[in-house]
Amino acid sequence: MRSEQLARPRVAGHATDATAIAHPNIALIKYWGKSDERLFLPRTDSLSMTLDIFPTTTRVRLAPGADQDAVVFNGEPATGEAARRIAAFLDLVRERAGSVERAVVDTENTVPTGAGLASSASGFAALAVAAAAAYGLDGEPRALSRLARRGSGSASRSIFGDFAVWHAGTDDLSSYAEPVDAAAGLDPALVVAVVNAGPKEVSSRTAMRRTVDTSPLFEPWALSSKDDLVDMRAALSSGDLDAVGEIAERNALGMHATMLAARPAVRYMSPASLTVLDAVLQLRRDGIAAYVTMDAGPNVKVLCRRTDTDRVATAVRGAAPDSAVHIAGPGKGARLLTEDER
Ligand code: DP6
Repeated sequence: MRSEQLARPRVAGHATDATAIAHPNIALIKYWGKSDERLFLPRTDSLSMTLDIFPTTTRVRLAPGADQDAVVFNGEPATGEAARRIAAFLDLVRERAGSVERAVVDTENTVPTGAGLASSASGFAALAVAAAAAYGLDGEPRALSRLARRGSGSASRSIFGDFAVWHAGTDDLSSYAEPVDAAAGLDPALVVAVVNAGPKEVSSRTAMRRTVDTSPLFEPWALSSKDDLVDMRAALSSGDLDAVGEIAERNALGMHATMLAARPAVRYMSPASLTVLDAVLQLRRDGIAAYVTMDAGPNVKVLCRRTDTDRVATAVRGAAPDSAVHIAGPGKGARLLTEDER
């Protein structure tokens, strides 16, 4: 296979114990649908903002002589699907590194898992960076983005800070994220309304497969998403926050429409989500630039100017009093921690 043939040799004398930090990202142009499930090749390009909240910190230590990987998640041994996905990811890393050594993975995740808040993005970005260092793989950002993608598609974008575009590509080599420039004056913030922090009923993986397979709205959305991306890049580089918000909102609501038309329908919006959507409409009527985006869950992220975050957060709390509200700005890309930082 092409990717495995091109895997770099192990870096001589590399550390076998590495810790990395990564942040979630929220897509302004969504990734929804794969063209290759094994390689995590998406149907469309996507574009995101990396956040400065909810980091994941992951340590990977090689364990010579161990006969299986050990994964600790927030202090507890990981089991089930989470452990299986991490072990499968480490198998890929070992294949590329020409190693048979098992590892101990210790991960601290501060984002509510499975709630449509991109915990898999920060999780696999941190794991990719730490595992690549521990096994001596290529640590260039593009290689790390391609590697993180194989754990969870959206993780490819969390390798980078601020704004990143993930090029869908046509094979393992050509599918990676890279930074996108935005005008210095943009100063965006996301007010995150966690209306329900519990795990979702349908995983994004299952939901996106069903959407591609059965939704008559999927192809039109994928086509219009191409135009949205062109418009979004222009809006970012000119620093037009209203345009960024309008494009992000239409792209996200379009994605949710594709799911509603799937058979059977996938509906992540809850009554509390809709009251937040109404509150955002009212903010706009009141002259505040506020726009929603939503992922595979009921939580709502409101894009606004940093100077408007208090006003927006108050409106969101009023609309959904039981929700937890977090305020995020653009965050940094994934990186290794130094000994002193651990
Ligand atoms: C709705 O990256 O979690 O958040 O690649 O199957 O692991 P897998 O899916 P995942 O999907 C994220 C979907 C989304 C939109 C986005 O982040 O672009």
